[in-house]
Amino acid sequence: TFALRFLFRRTPLSNWQVDSWRSKPILQQPEYDDKVRLKEVEQTLSSYPPLVFAAEARELRRQLGEVSLGKGFLLQGGDCAESFDEFNAPKIRDTFKVILQMAIVLTFAGRCPVTKVARMAGQYAKPRSSDFETRDGVTLPSYRGDIINNFEFTEAARRPDPDRLLEAYHRSASTLNLLRAFAQGGLADLHEVNRWNMAFVENNPLKERYSDMANRIQDTLEFMDVIGINAQTSSTLHETSLFTSHEALLLNYEQALTRVDTLTGKPYDCSAHMGWIGERTRQLDHAHVEFFRGIHNPIGVKVGPSMQEDELIRLIDALNPLNDPGRLTLITRMGADNLADNLPRLLRKVKAEGRHVVWSSDPMHGNTIKAATGFKTRPFESVLKEVKNFFAVSHAEKSYAGGLHVEMTGQDVTECTGGAQKISEKDLSSRYRTHCDPRLNADQALELAFLISEEIKKNSKISNKIIQAAS
Ligand code: PEP
Ligand code: CO
Repeated sequence: TFALRFLFRRTPLSNWQVDSWRSKPILQQPEYDDKVRLKEVEQTLSSYPPLVFAAEARELRRQLGEVSLGKGFLLQGGDCAESFDEFNAPKIRDTFKVILQMAIVLTFAGRCPVTKVARMAGQYAKPRSSDFETRDGVTLPSYRGDIINNFEFTEAARRPDPDRLLEAYHRSASTLNLLRAFAQGGLADLHEVNRWNMAFVENNPLKERYSDMANRIQDTLEFMDVIGINAQTSSTLHETSLFTSHEALLLNYEQALTRVDTLTGKPYDCSAHMGWIGERTRQLDHAHVEFFRGIHNPIGVKVGPSMQEDELIRLIDALNPLNDPGRLTLITRMGADNLADNLPRLLRKVKAEGRHVVWSSDPMHGNTIKAATGFKTRPFESVLKEVKNFFAVSHAEKSYAGGLHVEMTGQDVTECTGGAQKISEKDLSSRYRTHCDPRLNADQALELAFLISEEIKKNSKISNKIIQAAS
């Protein structure tokens, strides 16, 4: 009956089609005036080369499978929304660098490999809390991300434009090209990464700890060099791999980039290695769950404080009926003060039901507040508190804390308050550049990685228990 049950669970996939989501209810979508042009654009995109290769998505899925067993850690980060305006090499390079630096800090502290997934090369569609925005008595459609409309507050700019799907594709392709060059072309050389300047450690109590870590890495590299392991003999010292991801919200675009992999005969959404379903569009009988259940990429789902235990199990089974480790990452976004009340019951249920998932913490989306000055912001202290609580609760439940998902940028912006730089609400206006949610700047992102070193160290104890239990 065990085998039969699995067979049975599999059958729903047989009625999946790349467009079967179109007959389901769908939220958070634009209303296009020019449906004919939209159709043409979708057809054009379907004929274009895929942005990623299915085998790469499979490799990410394999790595996440290891993470779900406690043998690695997932770091996912990047802009809340990429923008067409800020599309240039320094911006891409600086975010890439910070992700790499965070990964090294986490690898060193956790003594485990870190899988890096950027929210880049396609993070262009945004869910919004309201369909309309009113300013000074004028009401216009909300900004929904550059793949849909323009941030500027005019009627023409806010009109959804199908040609933006093509624009998003080309920009994603260029971004991905540069990321691949950085990852393989020497920028990721461990000797270099270790030397990158850390502005944040100047005048910072963390300075000693940072220098200590950098020195220990340096000593290790020198020792390895002496015994013949160096960038020439070992590619892992000067190359890295970085995967891409975005919220796969605009399904017209995602469908158009879905390809049947010639090696396995299975459909993959080749717009990125990994896509996720947002907190607002994860209804079991709606379009996003329908689309995601048929693609074979590793996928994520955001999990907020309102999620019920049974609802979560039904969602897991819809998206990962074969209980494959690595297929599904649950990205919790509870809010620093809600997490302890809501995460334990979910961890317990998933564990009791024997479902394999990667648990990752998004400490951003549950901690957004409005500053007195009107800016949307997030206190660094709340972000840090949510991550620390995520680890504490996971450890208490003997569940493996597998990842961190952050909105960050390599630029020196002033969007989140606090941190070692002590950004105040008054400082926010000086370099507030986001088109959507406030991001950690380079220093804050790195500081966060440092401040969770102790937590990630404890992770290995849990991971040994999980590995023992599984064998
Ligand atoms: C996001 O990740 O930018 C986002 C909108 O998240 P959520 O779906 O968790 O609100
Ligand atoms: Co966001």
